[in-house]
Amino acid sequence: MSRKKQRRFAELEHLQNALDSSMLTGGGNWVRALFENDNPLVLELGCGKGEYTLALGRRYRDANVIGVDRKGDRIWKGAKRALAEPLENVAFLRARIEKLSDYFDPGQVREIWMPYPDPLPKRRQAKHRVLSPSFLETYRRILVKGGIVHVKTDDSGLIEYVIESLSEYGRAIVKRVSHDLYAEEPNDELLRIETTYERRHLDAGRTIKYISFGFS
Ligand SMILES: C[S@@+](CC[C@H](N)C(=O)[O-])C[C@H]1O[C@@H](n2cnc3c(N)ncnc32)[C@H](O)[C@@H]1O
Repeated sequence: MSRKKQRRFAELEHLQNALDSSMLTGGGNWVRALFENDNPLVLELGCGKGEYTLALGRRYRDANVIGVDRKGDRIWKGAKRALAEPLENVAFLRARIEKLSDYFDPGQVREIWMPYPDPLPKRRQAKHRVLSPSFLETYRRILVKGGIVHVKTDDSGLIEYVIESLSEYGRAIVKRVSHDLYAEEPNDELLRIETTYERRHLDAGRTIKYISFGFS
């Protein structure tokens, strides 16, 4: 790990809006204690620097928004920014997505956002894909009834994979699929939030794809 990453990682421990999953004892009570309210909960999974998390926090003032990523030096950026603005309804959790049901109660989450998950197309990477059936089971457990998952990507193969995975999982309902989000939803301010990844894809002339789903 570079010196800069090490410094950020160490500093993360002292930011009051950033938690490490190793500090949590199980269940989702820590969320109420952290925000000191019972507002609906929105997650960004694989949040990287937390750009989507911050933007959702600015738009959803009546909800709490938590960005989750396994990389501490990345969420450091988002956490610092949220403190500086300040965005009191935003926090970050360093955790592995596959362990989420250890840190959130069943039905605790209203919405999950997954902008630009790593597609991991190689067969040997399949078990790490965050949209594989075993991950879908985790999302179903922590979402409220009627809760929704939003996925954005520049990768058509990933959209096809999600549709296959949802069908294999069997308890999911596709809500919407778009192969060119900006052409089809030019005015949706939540879907139009741009991260660094998205800007890169748009600059390279790629279209942005989107799929949303819930569970039965
Ligand atoms: C391509 S980046 C997207 C970042 C962000 N959503 C954006 O649009 O800017 C994918 C992120 O997912 C995180 N990630 C991948 N698999 C993960 C897992 N199993 N648990 C937690 N984070 C994960 C990576 O560390 C990385 O920051």
